[in-house]
Amino acid sequence: MNQNEMKQAAAEAALAFVPDDCIVGVGTGSTANYFIDALPRIQARIQGAVASSEASAERLKKLGIPVYDLNAVDRIPVYVDGADEINHYLQMIKGGGGALTREKIVAEVAEQFICVADESKLVSVLGKFPLPVEVIPMARSLVARKLVLLGGRPVLREGFVTDNGNLILDVHGLSIAEASKLEGEINQMVGVVTNGLFARRRADVLLLGTAAGVKEMR
Ligand code: A5P
Repeated sequence: MNQNEMKQAAAEAALAFVPDDCIVGVGTGSTANYFIDALPRIQARIQGAVASSEASAERLKKLGIPVYDLNAVDRIPVYVDGADEINHYLQMIKGGGGALTREKIVAEVAEQFICVADESKLVSVLGKFPLPVEVIPMARSLVARKLVLLGGRPVLREGFVTDNGNLILDVHGLSIAEASKLEGEINQMVGVVTNGLFARRRADVLLLGTAAGVKEMR
């Protein structure tokens, strides 16, 4: 199996975690896209979806899946999304596609977070993948200076604006031993909307696509 086949196998395995009659939370990125593309198979037994980005909402609508505003939804039993890195505690770095804030919001509502990923995403220490931080545009330099004090090398994601009208700083050079602590510290910085560490709301289940098939980890 190549990397895309592993992503697809993991994403399709997540269908079995979606309960009947629910509104399912849908993430963003190439692995989440495989999940979206498989959703028509269970369309008859779900009400629809809440999307974590405009791109995913568009993809869902094209397939005829009803897309709900999160504010109109009481509960999301399951949220399915990819990750840029995930460790053995199922803490993640997300936001490679820039959708981290909406992903974190939908994940917070969800009762269960199912992470779908190929085996290259499983790491022992988070931080090799640059940590995305969404910032209010006028606070970009202020936040960048504070991130340097934490030992990181923030780089502005050129030519990119989030669905919320903000900027992304990708922070290189962090070796993240205490993910929850760092997540809180960065989120406390004035001007930060959120950062791509998902440690306080980690995944509940990892479906990892490997050469030997899909492994389930909890
Ligand atoms: C989107 O903002 C991200 O959080 C994605 O979930 C993450 O980048 C994984 O993307 P791929 O599935 O494309 O690797």
